[in-house]
Amino acid sequence: MIVTKHNAPLKQLHTFRLPGVARVVYYLRDKHDCASLPTNNYLVIGHGSNTIFTSDFERPLVRVELRGIEMTESSEHWLLKVAAGEPWHEFVTYCLDSGYFGLENLALIPGTVGAAPVQNIGAYGSEVADFISSVEAWDREQHCFVQLEHDDCQFAYRDSIFKKNPQRWLITAVYFRIPKRWCANNQYAELSDLVEPTAAQIYQRVISVRQNKLPDPDLVANAGSFFKNPTVSAQHYQQLVSLYPELRGYANADGSFKLAAGWLIDKRGWKGKQIGSIAVHQRQALVLINSGNGCSADLLALATAIKNDIQQSFAITLEVEVRLFDDQSLIQL
Ligand code: EPU
Repeated sequence: MIVTKHNAPLKQLHTFRLPGVARVVYYLRDKHDCASLPTNNYLVIGHGSNTIFTSDFERPLVRVELRGIEMTESSEHWLLKVAAGEPWHEFVTYCLDSGYFGLENLALIPGTVGAAPVQNIGAYGSEVADFISSVEAWDREQHCFVQLEHDDCQFAYRDSIFKKNPQRWLITAVYFRIPKRWCANNQYAELSDLVEPTAAQIYQRVISVRQNKLPDPDLVANAGSFFKNPTVSAQHYQQLVSLYPELRGYANADGSFKLAAGWLIDKRGWKGKQIGSIAVHQRQALVLINSGNGCSADLLALATAIKNDIQQSFAITLEVEVRLFDDQSLIQL
């Protein structure tokens, strides 16, 4: 049976906690109910930790609350089928406790397992795509369940086929393929002083780095990184390095460079700046926070001011990383 709520407070449905109401929310607790949702014009959400609603939301929401983990194995891999509504961090912890090592770099990321492939969550040198073998989804056009193989998912930095086509699929489960032969991934700066670490040590370090730098969405309303890290050409990168020798950049395989947007925003002095109750986080300039009674006008004003400043100062166009919605659909700044 599908649980339905009318005029539900949006504050309870997204971790940035702007005010407003969702006209109707369907809570999906049995995947077979996908076929009987009363409309097809819905937006799918998990815990709402990468989604910001800037006004009342008029379209129906489907909040995925499917639970369950099934494990099988082959000689070389742990094979897990995980329902989309499982909380991501609980799943990472379950894997660590069970001896399925590999996901520890992705500890403490907010959100659900079903949301993880949508934006291909990544942190501290790992991306979830590296561990996904396929994704089970309800095809909203064909009205049937489908299984998209890893290569069908078009995974890229904070991107996937699901992010590009938000109306097409409702993810119901994710299949993980975790190699039994584990190798520590401690290349990332904050992990690199760990000598021959165990998976548990990486897990603990990632948790403590995140707790130090990033606000806990249960305590301070936020949606993680607000902007994506931008890519610039080699020439543009060299120009910037000659002006700012301490610039943080990483070479991509195609010769371009990925820059740390947090560094750029920080360099321009935005840390701690605020408009109304919306502020740039004190310890990580890529994260915007809502200190309590923030409104969408202040959020949009602050984010636009940052974007314009980065454009003028570095000739770099920042792209929004969170999913930002008005009353109907995705918006860009
Ligand atoms: N930096 C600054 N000032 C700041 C923020 C960052 O100088 O205010 C510098 C850092 O010192 C570092 C570099 O910029 O040298 C990169 O910073 P950090 O390692 O914190 O990572 P990030 O690029 O800011 C990305 C992800 C995070 C993820 C971290 C760790 C994106 C958009 N964000 O942030 O993901 O946790 O790497 O791997 O790719 C999220 O998506 O919500 C998120 C938090």
